[in-house]
Amino acid sequence: MTTGTTMIPHSRPSIDQEEIRAVTDVLQSGHLAQGAVVERFERGMAAYFGAAGGVAVNSGTMALEVALRALGIGPGDEVLLPSYVCAAPWQAVQRVGAQARLVDIEPETFQIDADLARAAITSRTRAIIVPHLFGLPADLTALAQLGVPLIEDCAQTLGAMEQGRAVGSVGVLTVCSFYANKLLCAGEGGMLLSSNSVLLERARALREYDGSPSLNPQATNLKMTDLQAAVGLVQLNRLPEFLERRVSLALGYREALAGTSAILPSVPAGRSHVYYRFVVRISQRRSGSDELSECLGRMERQGVQCRKPVFRSLHCYLGLEGFPATEAAEREALSVPLYPALTGEEAAQVFMAMRDEWRRE
Ligand SMILES: Cc1ncc(COP(=O)(O)O)c(C=O)c1O
Repeated sequence: MTTGTTMIPHSRPSIDQEEIRAVTDVLQSGHLAQGAVVERFERGMAAYFGAAGGVAVNSGTMALEVALRALGIGPGDEVLLPSYVCAAPWQAVQRVGAQARLVDIEPETFQIDADLARAAITSRTRAIIVPHLFGLPADLTALAQLGVPLIEDCAQTLGAMEQGRAVGSVGVLTVCSFYANKLLCAGEGGMLLSSNSVLLERARALREYDGSPSLNPQATNLKMTDLQAAVGLVQLNRLPEFLERRVSLALGYREALAGTSAILPSVPAGRSHVYYRFVVRISQRRSGSDELSECLGRMERQGVQCRKPVFRSLHCYLGLEGFPATEAAEREALSVPLYPALTGEEAAQVFMAMRDEWRRE
């Protein structure tokens, strides 16, 4: 087991007295459901993204579904998305009755490949879901030139830049997640942001069962509570400090791994990384062995809980072939703990474990 050290978890939220106070204030206010605090959170997030408005919902997954519905996407339509992502975007596409078409990723960056997206476009393609994975922007410049509306999925990336533009400022709609392990957390929750007031109005109507003149079978209760929004607002204030700490930890990890066999996160020219995840590629030392799970086991024995950064690629679930870059990521990518709540001592333990691991060759 571990060498007398306690296990460093792969993720841990940064919750302080301020969040506790904000929740207590809401509890004492007598108004817990969606109300003024949610509205303040929506305005704060919209200002952060430079969008006209935001619509808070109960998860990032539902934000994606509402984004598709707001764009009028449904049966007979196709939506492009990468295979290398969690199941949430695929499930959102399924629930609106559209067809998901999977695209491989850029081999170096893990992000959706714009050239392959172009090749996958048909006359029925209505949107591209663009997750910015692990804190790094996708190639927004190339994707924006494809002439298909982009839904930017910022569940894993806030504040990162691509060619001078912030993520979430390019797509017709942007979605966020405030799940407990995210850059900005509220336990659960999500939001759509846009500068298109028609899309925002449609999204607002979809998150409530009542309030419209006619019955809408697509609408349902997707509301966020003021309790979650109170946490989100404090976290939004702390976001610059969180991102700074993440980037500084990543610099330390890069130094620790310099000169070892580890393949470090690639940051193409013109893009910045905020390190939601620090994803190292392991080299395949012994063909035929499951090198990744052996590596996960060795890190765990050193008290460092690592994870595969994507549980299972979509094309693997679906039994599809022809995604070589995603398959390489499945075999090689490993995420090590990196978050603002990591103490200096814990970061030193992660450095040591990584050095031991990647000096083994
Ligand atoms: C890229 C991406 N999109 C969407 C989601 C779904 O968000 P949520 O967990 O809030 O439903 C996640 C996971 O949290 C994610 O990583």
